[in-house]
Amino acid sequence: MKSNEYIDLELKYGAHNYHPLPVVLRKGQGVYVWDVEDKKYYDFLSAYSAVNQGHCHPKIITALHNQAKNLTLTSRAFHNDVLGEYEQYITNYFKYDKVLPMNTGVEGGETANKLARKWGYLKKKIPKNKARIIFANGNFWGRTLAAISSSDDPSSYNDFGPYMPGYSLIPYNNIEALEQELRDPNVCAFMVEPIQGEAGVVVPSDGYLSAVRSLCDKYNVLFIADEVQTGLARTGKMLACDYENARPDILILGKALSGGVFPVSAVLADDDIMLCIKPGEHGSTYGGNPLACRVAMAALQVLKDENLCQNAYELGNLFRDELNSWIVSCDLVSGIRGKGLLNAILINDSPESSTAWDICMKLRENSLLAKPTHGNIIRLAPPLVINKEQILDCINIIKTTIDHF
Ligand SMILES: Cc1ncc(COP(=O)(O)O)c(C=O)c1O
Repeated sequence: MKSNEYIDLELKYGAHNYHPLPVVLRKGQGVYVWDVEDKKYYDFLSAYSAVNQGHCHPKIITALHNQAKNLTLTSRAFHNDVLGEYEQYITNYFKYDKVLPMNTGVEGGETANKLARKWGYLKKKIPKNKARIIFANGNFWGRTLAAISSSDDPSSYNDFGPYMPGYSLIPYNNIEALEQELRDPNVCAFMVEPIQGEAGVVVPSDGYLSAVRSLCDKYNVLFIADEVQTGLARTGKMLACDYENARPDILILGKALSGGVFPVSAVLADDDIMLCIKPGEHGSTYGGNPLACRVAMAALQVLKDENLCQNAYELGNLFRDELNSWIVSCDLVSGIRGKGLLNAILINDSPESSTAWDICMKLRENSLLAKPTHGNIIRLAPPLVINKEQILDCINIIKTTIDHF
């Protein structure tokens, strides 16, 4: 079958809840993907940062195969012989007392919200059903009813009400607005992305995260960091919060926790918070399954073994330096922003124009896959296993594509 036939099949039988770039992929390896016509591309989306370790990383796939032959799922009705090892591994890795394993990133967010509310009632003594959680404008943490209830993006929430009560929004990167809200004794948590990915790679000012940490301490409010997209070496540190030594009370991980193999998420916290949830109060059939545990351990080990934090840090700097010196002479690009290998170029046109999409179509022709986020912003996030030669090649593709536009 040809690309257009695969696309027609999806259009005919699948819900129309996405608007993909018209490319049909059949194979991935490292930083590359191939379409059904055998054209090879650099992947500059990395499945929204789920494929930090590169496509089909052999160590992760081997872990998957080996475990799949033995035992894949027991549910948490029974113990399995991998879960404890994984729990020990990941809590040591991130230095928290406990982990609660889930599957998708949004379930991680839901878990963090429930945990924070429970802690609010049990420990902060918030009156029943009065707990509030504060979010920042522009946040994105998924598509469940709770996640869209905290969203300020009409395409997320319009016509899906009624919404979850107890959520409030403040401007991102605004410490005064946060302090104002945290004074309310019914606030149990502030949930925030250290860099807002979906909003267009919005990087807060230096000192924001450490100020969030201090304010949460001052008002006895939990700091929940949604590191589903920014975590796991993507921004040049293991966690984006590490840049400011701002340790969250609740840490949410997902996406690259499985290296892009299947959904694996995790919520980490210390005992004082995590033990507020008792048996029967939260869970998921697949959460903590032995296959996910093996895959996650392999995925985390690859990040360390291959120094992917350092690679993302160094090549991210190179990437921004090169593009920043080029945009001086390029009217079509108004800026580059990001940290590590989570970056975006801002197209000098209105968000309603199709320019960013048209550029992505041209990039596709020139063998690099990227996708606009929020109209005129193109996110550029290759797998972190990319090397210097490859990234220089990609910089060249991006420059020449946009220059010829
Ligand atoms: C910051 C952040 N949190 C949560 C999610 C939701 O993850 P998932 O799509 O696995 O539910 C996303 C997805 O893009 C995200 O970027």
